[in-house]
Amino acid sequence: MHVYQRLLRPLLFRFDPEYVHRLVLRAGQMAGSIAPGRAALQSLHGYEHASLRTQLAGLNFANPVGLPAGFDKNGIAPQALAAIGFGLIDIGSVSLLPSAGNPLRPRLFRLPADDGIMVYYGVPNDGIECVARRLATLRLQVPLGLSLVETNTGVPASVDSVIAELVAAARVARKVSDYRVLNLNCPNSGGGFSHFDDPAHLRALLQAMQEVEREGRVFLRMSPPRDPALIDTLLDAIDPFPFVKGIGFYMFPADLATRLKTPLVARERMRGSFSGPANRVATEEAIRQWYARIDRSRLVLIGVGGIFSAEDAYRSIRLGASLVQVYTALIYRGPGVVGEIKRGLVRLLARDGLASVAEAVGVDCPQGRREY
Ligand SMILES: Cc1cc2nc3c(=O)[nH]c(=O)nc-3n(C[C@H](O)[C@H](O)[C@H](O)COP(=O)(O)O)c2cc1C
Repeated sequence: MHVYQRLLRPLLFRFDPEYVHRLVLRAGQMAGSIAPGRAALQSLHGYEHASLRTQLAGLNFANPVGLPAGFDKNGIAPQALAAIGFGLIDIGSVSLLPSAGNPLRPRLFRLPADDGIMVYYGVPNDGIECVARRLATLRLQVPLGLSLVETNTGVPASVDSVIAELVAAARVARKVSDYRVLNLNCPNSGGGFSHFDDPAHLRALLQAMQEVEREGRVFLRMSPPRDPALIDTLLDAIDPFPFVKGIGFYMFPADLATRLKTPLVARERMRGSFSGPANRVATEEAIRQWYARIDRSRLVLIGVGGIFSAEDAYRSIRLGASLVQVYTALIYRGPGVVGEIKRGLVRLLARDGLASVAEAVGVDCPQGRREY
């Protein structure tokens, strides 16, 4: 990790972030496609421990530290990502039709003072048919998810057409993935707007999704509302659909600007949504609030947003997340961060006398929960 931060990162940060993203994926594709490449990554970064093993939603996870959507949008390098030790890998977000994403460049901005990234990609991807072909022959030891999103056409689409698209994409995705993640944030409007903030629309989506996913596994990715009554109505909308196994969040904290060190003049030259540690407080607040309200016998939470260390991951787990995901930490700390978080988790569990991650989930959740 120090080699990355001292040598590699300064070099990579001299180039355009989107170019570096493509370059790193290409390197991952090459390393992951040959056995010696995978073995080298594994010996550098691999780490396993019995206390990290988790079983949920009918899947076995060697560890709870995952990669969320957005790094490998097209399924280019899943073997390398598995070799560096992620316990789950989300490919995507992928839409039914291919999309070039937002036309305006640049679309990625670094905020080194905040260890952050501003993202304005607009979900460019090769489309589900192409990505599914790429994944079809893959045999991974790690559970693989496909994150699905509506196609970015530049103009908002009607709820009905978004639902139809997501169902059609899931039909293809099901054949090549262990679970699907429905990315409910609309790429055509930004700022976290979603048709599916409306519980009636969410219910309609899940109703339609039943056709494909009745026996499947689906996780929802949403920008979490804070109003407890609205959370309960959304959970009620999910309740009749047992194929929904969990919820992950996409954070757009209202007080973000007050947490950033990057000067406003610099930020005014950027666009998009922020990823980085400044989102972590909001992530933890969402986990705390939702864990008290979900039906724990059937839903899990995925902690994502600003997790950079084992301590961060552990806090999210103790608040109620069964799995965590890290992305921006990979950019700022390098691939070694995955092993570092896992080693740290093992240490923290042992310190607290807990035998497994599952035992730690929710131990810090305040008393009281919604009854089901
Ligand atoms: C460059 C970039 C691209 C992303 N693209 C997607 C995407 O296509 N779909 C999605 O659901 N999330 C996407 N995300 C959001 C991440 O999945 C994650 O929620 C976010 O980065 C917060 O986690 P982090 O603080 O560990 O980075 C993207 C994030 C980044 C940095």
